[in-house]
Amino acid sequence: MRKTIVAGNWKMNASKESVKTLIEGILSGMNGVSSEVIVCAPFPYLSQVETLISNTSLMLGAQNLNVNTKGAFTGEVSPDMIKDFGAQHVIVGHSERRSLYGESITIVAEKTKAAIDAGLIPLLCVGESLEERDSGNTEVVVAEQLNAVINLLGIEAFEGIIIAYEPVWAIGTGLTASPEQAQAVHLFIRGLLADSSESIAQKTPILYGGSMNAGNAAELISCSDIDGGLIGGAALKAEDFLQICKAG
Ligand code: 13P
Repeated sequence: MRKTIVAGNWKMNASKESVKTLIEGILSGMNGVSSEVIVCAPFPYLSQVETLISNTSLMLGAQNLNVNTKGAFTGEVSPDMIKDFGAQHVIVGHSERRSLYGESITIVAEKTKAAIDAGLIPLLCVGESLEERDSGNTEVVVAEQLNAVINLLGIEAFEGIIIAYEPVWAIGTGLTASPEQAQAVHLFIRGLLADSSESIAQKTPILYGGSMNAGNAAELISCSDIDGGLIGGAALKAEDFLQICKAG
């Protein structure tokens, strides 16, 4: 049995005050939550969240990392720095980074490697654009994104990777993939992993992301290959986020 995982991706939304309110709100409602819960904070707030969640079951993640361990990379943040602030996870390959910051499948694979080398668990995002879906290329695109990581790291690396299927057209749009649409791609992803290792395919958590909210989470997470969610907008309100955490 795979454990349900719910991760909040706050993106570039936070202030010291809102972080305190949000974390305290989440912590006050964690009774009865059996899912693993991760919050992915912007870099400047990692330290604050680390302190607020110490000695609780909440886990911390970052939203990006540099592939280098240290050096002359002005403005960048290394995997070890992320670990130094108590994070165990890091989002890699989010579609906003692929599309707005030109992260190629090669860079995403290298970032996945850098995270694993530092002892972090990558939340590896994959997903197709609307144009790619409409032209029947969803599986081609998702396979290409995953194969870049499998080819660089080997299938064994997926023992320490969480995959998030995030169709680009569903992110921040209110257009959630239907449970059938999402389950079909999750099953495809699991099949692709199984081509290399059936046992790793069965163990790898595959989360859904894209306009998941308190109203639709339970139905999505009840699908056999959907192991939780990567939540954007609905992760910014403790009440909504907790409802999603309880849906698992
Ligand atoms: P929304 O939940 O706001 O659609 O964002 C999803 C997402 O991009 C999580 O990484």
